[in-house]
Amino acid sequence: MHYFLDTADVREIARCVDLFPVAGVTTNPTLIAQVRRPFLDILTDIRQVIGEELMLHVQMTGSEAATMVAEANRLRDRLGSGILPKVPVTPQGLKAIRLLAASGFSVTATAIGTPQQALLAARAGAAFTAPYVNRLDNICGDGVGVVASMVRLFAAHGLPAKVLAASFKNVQQVLDVALAGAHSVTLAPELLDLVIRHPLTDSGLAGFVADWSAAYGAGTTLLDLIPVRAS
Ligand code: E4P
Repeated sequence: MHYFLDTADVREIARCVDLFPVAGVTTNPTLIAQVRRPFLDILTDIRQVIGEELMLHVQMTGSEAATMVAEANRLRDRLGSGILPKVPVTPQGLKAIRLLAASGFSVTATAIGTPQQALLAARAGAAFTAPYVNRLDNICGDGVGVVASMVRLFAAHGLPAKVLAASFKNVQQVLDVALAGAHSVTLAPELLDLVIRHPLTDSGLAGFVADWSAAYGAGTTLLDLIPVRAS
């Protein structure tokens, strides 16, 4: 399963990309708006921080297919081919997904609430499909169940689309979609931090540090104890 960062906060992206095995960044209009800087500057900075290799998913804001296609082309022109347009699963969005996929874009179908929406988006040519797990859970919509159905449908119908599960508020949801077979998740940096946290890890490490310091001195590393081989 691949991990994406769901944020437009360039400092947080730089911190997480340095530490975690991140596949890319996803943004949406709300996340971009929170930064309160010119749109293109934000994306240019994100691209610079993550490099050319990682994926950058950017949501289109037009409501007509023609506008979304033009937005994606303008973005690709300014930011390079590593841009993945995110397109909502409206009828116009499905048309935009088909047109963009036909012209070589990897498209992310977003704001997915049902497996049927995902199936149509995948059939239209979406490379990624993003169900909103927590938003579904908040209306008793069984976010994890929707992810599980999407995974099953894509496999059953031989569709190459990947599930990029989105909208998480806790670590259990992340684990549950991983167990359901999600190909990728996108997480806010603070949630990614929580995914790796466990009190046993902290207490175990504290014990090692205490024992080691008592024997060899605080802050001593293996490098202090193993002399470089004489050449
Ligand atoms: C995904 O494409 C969205 O950016 C996102 O995950 C929505 O998450 P939220 O429900 O926390 O706003």
